[in-house]
Amino acid sequence: MKKTFTVFLFIAATGYFLSCVHEPATNVDIALEDLLNQKSATGSFEAYIMPVSGDYAALPNQDVKNPVTATKVELGRMLFFETGLGVEPTYPVSKATYSCSSCHVPARGFTAGRFQGIADGAIGFGQSGEGRSKNPLYTGDDVDAQGARPLPTINTTYVTNALWAGTFGSFGVNIGTESVWQQDSLVEINFKGLQGLEANNERALIVHRQVVNKKVTDSLGYTAMFDAAFPDIPASERYTRQTAAFAIAAYFRTILTNEAPFQRWLRGDKTAMTEQQKNGALVFFGKAGCVSCHNSPSLNSSPHRFYALGVKNLYQNGHDRSFGQAQFRTRRLHGIAGRHVQIQSPAVV
Ligand code: HEC
Ligand code: HEC
Repeated sequence: MKKTFTVFLFIAATGYFLSCVHEPATNVDIALEDLLNQKSATGSFEAYIMPVSGDYAALPNQDVKNPVTATKVELGRMLFFETGLGVEPTYPVSKATYSCSSCHVPARGFTAGRFQGIADGAIGFGQSGEGRSKNPLYTGDDVDAQGARPLPTINTTYVTNALWAGTFGSFGVNIGTESVWQQDSLVEINFKGLQGLEANNERALIVHRQVVNKKVTDSLGYTAMFDAAFPDIPASERYTRQTAAFAIAAYFRTILTNEAPFQRWLRGDKTAMTEQQKNGALVFFGKAGCVSCHNSPSLNSSPHRFYALGVKNLYQNGHDRSFGQAQFRTRRLHGIAGRHVQIQSPAVV
């Protein structure tokens, strides 16, 4: 009898320890979970959980014309870093010396490694883009340097309308703005009926002097990958900026900060965040009210909302949805370590 009891105790103890692979929740965990349940649109903290890697079907805001597949993701990852598409530089000396990743550097949270990223018109790169400098041969508009307002290409599956002003994408905040699309040959792409990422990327390939056609895909060895990714698109339309843009969009949708401490905490690992981080989350989702704007799993606003936070616009207009005080899209907040946090004022913190 005594022996049976000991065995029972042993089994019970093993069961107990196995069930506790994670530390038990503390009061602050319980308070945070309650708060998230209250703030979430669904009534459950689980609404803040991002899809796990590889679960393509769970990625939100996909374009019905461009569902994410493994072959597209693989092709998009190559094209994003491919300098060989840079066949239309201002000066021949720069041929094949730049790519999307000249300005969206993974080690810098997918922003440029310098204050203002340069694609065509710069030399060098360094470890993570910090060593890239302007080619003295280039002056003024010769240089492809975008405004000093980077946007990371990370967690972009939560973006329905791309860029600061939500310029690209035929749906979401752009419904009813067709008269504006006609005013700019680049924005006319919104008439194609695409999601923000797909539209933005096609336009980015043009703006950043990159070319995609059969000659280019043959010479770089990508033709078979385009065939695998887009078997349903007729061969005459398969090797284009549009298909390249689709593949890069599919790749972008898989770049998720789903291993961030907050995400691991949400999935049940209560040790993933420090006590200080948990208290920070309580403030963010609680009395500081940040969640009233930063409310999606990537902590941008869903649906997108634009606000004037009282900071001055930079030197450009046209990114202003209000025609008054500058308003900007609520930013995603994951993946900001390793780069400058920036809001739309000349001060970079
Ligand atoms: C010369 C630097 C530069 C290059 C090259 C570049 N980008 Fe960007 N990218 C930027 C800047 C700056 C922004 C923010 C612009 C804005 O909103 O005004 C941006 C924004 C974006 C966004 C919008 C993200 C969001 O949150 O809305 C996407 C998507 C993007 N780029 C994709 C690409 C792709 C694809 C390529 C290559 C075809 C590319 N970029 C090449 C500088 C660059
Ligand atoms: C009224 C809506 C609103 C509220 C409330 C709000 N934000 Fe924001 N947040 C924005 C907008 C819009 C931007 C982009 C603004 C810009 O760049 O000028 C932004 C940008 C940011 C950025 C810059 C991110 C980057 O990628 O560089 C951080 C960090 C940030 N917010 C944190 C917070 C915190 C922390 C709180 C709570 C104390 C908060 N926000 C409350 C709307 C809001």
